[in-house]
Amino acid sequence: MHLDQIIETQDGSHSILSHKYGVSYHSKYGAITESKHVFISAGLFPKIREKEVISILEIGFGTGLNAFLSFIEANTKKLKLNYVGIEAYPISEEQYHHLNYPELLETPHFKNQFLQLHTSEWGKSIVIDPQFTFIKHLKHFEDIDYQSSFDVIYFDAFAPSAQPELWEEDLLQKMYDALVPGGIMVTYCAKGLVKRRLKSIGFTVESLPGPPGKREMTKGIKPQ
Ligand SMILES: C[S@@+](CC[C@H](N)C(=O)[O-])C[C@H]1O[C@@H](n2cnc3c(N)ncnc32)[C@H](O)[C@@H]1O
Repeated sequence: MHLDQIIETQDGSHSILSHKYGVSYHSKYGAITESKHVFISAGLFPKIREKEVISILEIGFGTGLNAFLSFIEANTKKLKLNYVGIEAYPISEEQYHHLNYPELLETPHFKNQFLQLHTSEWGKSIVIDPQFTFIKHLKHFEDIDYQSSFDVIYFDAFAPSAQPELWEEDLLQKMYDALVPGGIMVTYCAKGLVKRRLKSIGFTVESLPGPPGKREMTKGIKPQ
């Protein structure tokens, strides 16, 4: 049985409260607001100007919100996105049916595509529409092993206070290796320790204004 409850954040969008870690999947100030700010505006948008086909790796597929927002951008702006999501502890069928993202984003016509993100087979690539290819892998972040494969990484693990092991240098190094030169990693986390680790690995680190409730967020760029 899933003990994790669906909660409503301040912009009306749902999130999930993790029973195990005692934290929510998104900011209480707004799940959609946070995801758009951190991942879409700071992560995806800068690449649109540079590349015709963009490869995205998401560390922490969770509710599928970041994948769904990326799909909507691909569809409406006619971008070509190849999206890979990693998740070890998928949410339940009952939970993903209940999430209010398609309705709140005024895209009820994409409800099927939202559900497809969840119902698609693990490890099997699907074409959700000609603009958006999607695959998710049921695995631990610690086991990823990509080399120069992605333009953008959405790093959306639980915070270092909840899961410090996911912010150690070895996983940050795996993300660095997974990016193509010039690729970017974005995260809502702005902790000095994490930024120092990113710098020591070789990322060029930028602190950007954060979403509501957070002064800053972090962008790491792999040098060309
Ligand atoms: C902050 S939440 C995800 C937010 C997600 N991007 C969303 O919009 O719902 C972190 C996610 O990481 C997953 N997770 C935690 N530890 C993990 C691990 N070691 N390997 C893979 N997934 C993990 C959790 O199950 C959860 O879905």
